Amino acid sequence: MKDPTLNIQPRAMDVSGETAFTYLALARKLSREGKRIISFGIGQPDYVTPAHIREEAKRALDEGFTGYTETAGIPELREAIAWYLNSRYRADVDPDEVIVTTGAKTAIFVAMAAYVRPGDEVIVIDPAYYAYAQAAKLFGGKPVLVPLRFEPDVGFRLDMEELRRSISERTRMIAVNSPHNPTGNIIPRDQIEEIYDLARKHNIIILSDEIYDNFLYEPQKFKSFLELPDWRSHLVYVNGFSKTFSMTGWRLGYLVVRKEVIPKMLDLAVTVYSCATSFAQRGAVAAIKGSWEAVYEMIEEFKRRAEVLYRVLSESEYIEAYKPEGAFYMFPRVSKFLKKTGMSAEELVKYLLYEHGVLTLPGSAFSEREWDHIRFSFATKMNNIIEGGKIVVEALRGYKRMS
Ligand SMILES: Cc1ncc(COP(=O)(O)O)c(C=O)c1O
Repeated sequence: MKDPTLNIQPRAMDVSGETAFTYLALARKLSREGKRIISFGIGQPDYVTPAHIREEAKRALDEGFTGYTETAGIPELREAIAWYLNSRYRADVDPDEVIVTTGAKTAIFVAMAAYVRPGDEVIVIDPAYYAYAQAAKLFGGKPVLVPLRFEPDVGFRLDMEELRRSISERTRMIAVNSPHNPTGNIIPRDQIEEIYDLARKHNIIILSDEIYDNFLYEPQKFKSFLELPDWRSHLVYVNGFSKTFSMTGWRLGYLVVRKEVIPKMLDLAVTVYSCATSFAQRGAVAAIKGSWEAVYEMIEEFKRRAEVLYRVLSESEYIEAYKPEGAFYMFPRVSKFLKKTGMSAEELVKYLLYEHGVLTLPGSAFSEREWDHIRFSFATKMNNIIEGGKIVVEALRGYKRMS
């Protein structure tokens, strides 16, 4: 008989990890072996956390602020988060409607744990950050994928008809992420309103992950669900510190939801993580309340990188590039190359990594279906973008000559 310790329960067996991390590990291994790798792989800003944030966390440590905190987060941080959301979105969020989590990821997890019942359908706009579908499955939910439409030169668009058609009696939640990982597109303002109309009409929860809300290259296009006056009825809102303040390793995110369900969410939160790291929370207060100069500079630089990456990749007859509108990703189509060579997107990513020392990620890292696309993260220095982009263009061209 099989040892019980080998007997993982079926829902857990169904959950897959973050493939992106597997490719990053491959690249790291090559680097350790002495190979130079230009990485378009990683989803974190290539900046250290601004100094005043680090200083405040150090101060907290020196003051001995090292114990557990309130599960919902220290009051100063909940207030700072509510202040940020209200000054930006006029959302009227009360600090008591905020729960600080150990990253946006944990906020997604807590939200799914609270709402997804076995047999519920969770609509995921595909491709997507992998965690929505995986967390939904863990709680017995069934991910229903609504594919984005790719339009050359434009990028990805959500087809509202398709979204409407995917709604059933069992739909419990729609996971929305704008600006979007992996495409870098923004869901336009009118569609945000239409999605919320659908939620009202069909009694569906919107899980809105707005972690890239500061990475906007076409800011007029973006709308937060928190701008809707009745957001409390259908919205669970997720955001975090990882991207805006280059704080991925601090593990800090947050959830905003109506007050009535906060006690239950806290039961779940305390069971998973007790509280977010005490001194990191102090740093996060400084992040929101201190100078945003470094953030704005970083975003300006990202905007320039988006342009340059677009220009460089557009040189290739095999890459259908477009200008990202937000986040720090482009997910161009490479189907012409795949058709010509018979390669899959995974094989192309491996070819670029092993033969040319450039890391990108295949569509399969963001979807359970085939996407003839690869993701470029431009969270890397400009010279890497130019050099790495040219290497990719040449690698595809060169392959043509070989075959
Ligand atoms: C859309 C999206 N949501 C959430 C996360 C995770 O963020 P955190 O580091 O706050 O857990 C990421 C990270 O890549 C992301 O792209």
